[in-house]
Amino acid sequence: MLMLRTALFIVLVLGSVGVAGYAAVAYALLPVGSTVHPQMQAVYEQHRVAILAHIAGSMAALLIGPAQFISGLRARQPRVHRVLGRLYLLGVLVGGVAGLRMAMLAFGGIVAHTGFALLAALWLWTGARALLAARAGRIAEHRRWMIRNFALTFAAVTLRAQLGLFAALGFAFESYYPVLAWISWVPNLMVAQWLVRPPRRCAATPAGLMPTPASPAAASPSLLSSPSLER
Ligand code: HEM
Repeated sequence: MLMLRTALFIVLVLGSVGVAGYAAVAYALLPVGSTVHPQMQAVYEQHRVAILAHIAGSMAALLIGPAQFISGLRARQPRVHRVLGRLYLLGVLVGGVAGLRMAMLAFGGIVAHTGFALLAALWLWTGARALLAARAGRIAEHRRWMIRNFALTFAAVTLRAQLGLFAALGFAFESYYPVLAWISWVPNLMVAQWLVRPPRRCAATPAGLMPTPASPAAASPSLLSSPSLER
């Protein structure tokens, strides 16, 4: 389990740095939209502020996010965790609001528009819930919302991995891109939901408070109980 979590953390870091690196090169060094479908490029040229704000905010969230799950950093440098957390949520706010705008203009019609819009709305909502929980001192709840939130941030990575896969399989971009607006994030959210699942109650105890020993959730109440990801 420990190795699985360490592997998961490494995937998070490599995926996040890889996609943020792509975005930095493609939008800071090359003309806007030069790496995407010509129709998308035309939209980006017309909505330069929205797409660049989306990418800048989202990139910040993607780069900061993994650091927030490092247990040692949170324990030894709580102030750093708080400052990075605020910057992360600012990135989500800017990236999410601009993402909502871009969702209305996305390539792929109504399927893509609704998929991306729901992703943006959930991204903003889970971020707000995480912030409110932290402010109220409900730390366990804060961690659960942040796991869900980062699972959505990570949609940027899964989307690009899926893009590569469908392209390698020879599908036409037009046929699969709208589907990616959904499958890039729904599975991520399901994994996050599994990671934050509550421990199973033992029916035999009167108060129902004892976790079942055989249950994996009992052994590991959340993703954050791992050394690399724990609080
Ligand atoms: C999680 C919430 C997110 C939503 C709702 C979202 C939404 C969108 C939408 C609707 C577009 C336009 C797509 C089109 O024109 O068809 C877009 C483009 C883009 N987004 Fe996001 N996005 C999110 C997260 C991220 C993250 C975390 C990054 C990280 C850098 C990112 C980077 C980009 C880039 C670089 C583009 C331009 C297209 C490309 O070059 O691949 N997005 N996003």
